[in-house]
Amino acid sequence: MLVTSLDQAEESAWLAALRATIPAEELVPANGVTDPARFDVAIVANPRPEQLAPFAALRFVQSLWAGVEKIVSNAALPLDVPLARLIDPTMSQTMAEAVAAHVLALHRNHPHYRRAQNARRWDEAAMVPAHARAVAFLGTGELARASLALLAHLGFERLAWSRAPRPIDGVRTFAGHEGLRAMLAQTDILVNLLPLTPATRGIVDGRLLSALKPGAALVNVARGGHVVDADLLAALDAGQLGEAVLDVFHDEPLPPDHPFWAHPRIQVFPHVAGPTDMVSAAAVAAANIRAFREGRPIIGLVDRGRGY
Ligand code: NAP
Ligand code: GLV
Repeated sequence: MLVTSLDQAEESAWLAALRATIPAEELVPANGVTDPARFDVAIVANPRPEQLAPFAALRFVQSLWAGVEKIVSNAALPLDVPLARLIDPTMSQTMAEAVAAHVLALHRNHPHYRRAQNARRWDEAAMVPAHARAVAFLGTGELARASLALLAHLGFERLAWSRAPRPIDGVRTFAGHEGLRAMLAQTDILVNLLPLTPATRGIVDGRLLSALKPGAALVNVARGGHVVDADLLAALDAGQLGEAVLDVFHDEPLPPDHPFWAHPRIQVFPHVAGPTDMVSAAAVAAANIRAFREGRPIIGLVDRGRGY
């Protein structure tokens, strides 16, 4: 028995996609369930605690998002219920496209030319070859590795940092506090693809930004909570940070009066770097639910202690 807790506007489309991939299971929306004890599996996006609270018999939760910080911190979900985040090749490909698009636009000075055009100024920027541009990643997970693989074809120097050392072919990898500082000092374009956890919240602060090469750029496609907004604005205004491309924010939608909207060196995207694709995500969820039923390993199990 499965119960879903999904975005209301999209719920019927999701139910159709999920029913097509898991026909053997009864699948119902969480809202309106009168006998919650019958349900042992939940498929969720970002459930509110009160949506999961009645489902005391849950034995497995599958997220349709890659980032699970809101589920990990959901007090209604007992700690011993296994939780899987979404690991979906379609999402990895989509995220890699977004990262490559942002990196190429920064590399080829698109924000500079947009500002020059707005001022009707013919203003050629210096040309830097891709091999002399160091693109560094915070995180070496599913989405960072897909992005690093796509960037390999474009010839950039590639660096990446993670909690534990993670060798990746052709990528200079770093770990730990000292590793982070060593990587930042060589970074022209920093791409954030960390999960939001107690250890990573606010990691992109004044200290981190001041450790980058002067004039470096930031691409944040992970979570708004990683960034200390005031420090980001200060670093941009001081010229320490050259450009910022932001896909995610503390509050989404980004409030109309937020200073990011009008800043000449910030480009705002409405959380669109790696959207969940219904068809592929439903297939991933179905495979995991079959694995759960048959006692086989589940893909993407979250370590609730680490928070990702
Ligand atoms: P993942 O596979 O879990 O990878 C996480 C990476 O972060 C791992 O390399 C991990 O290190 C590293 N990490 C975690 N905590 C760390 C710490 N304290 N210090 C250093 N490194 C740390 O995650 P993913 O699937 O790539 O997704 C990353 C995030 O992208 C998601 O959590 C979500 O927030 C965001 N996202 C955004 C969008 C969008 O549309 N903008 C779409 C999807 C996902 P280890 O390898 O050592 O464990
Ligand atoms: C989107 O941001 C996700 O975490 O899947």
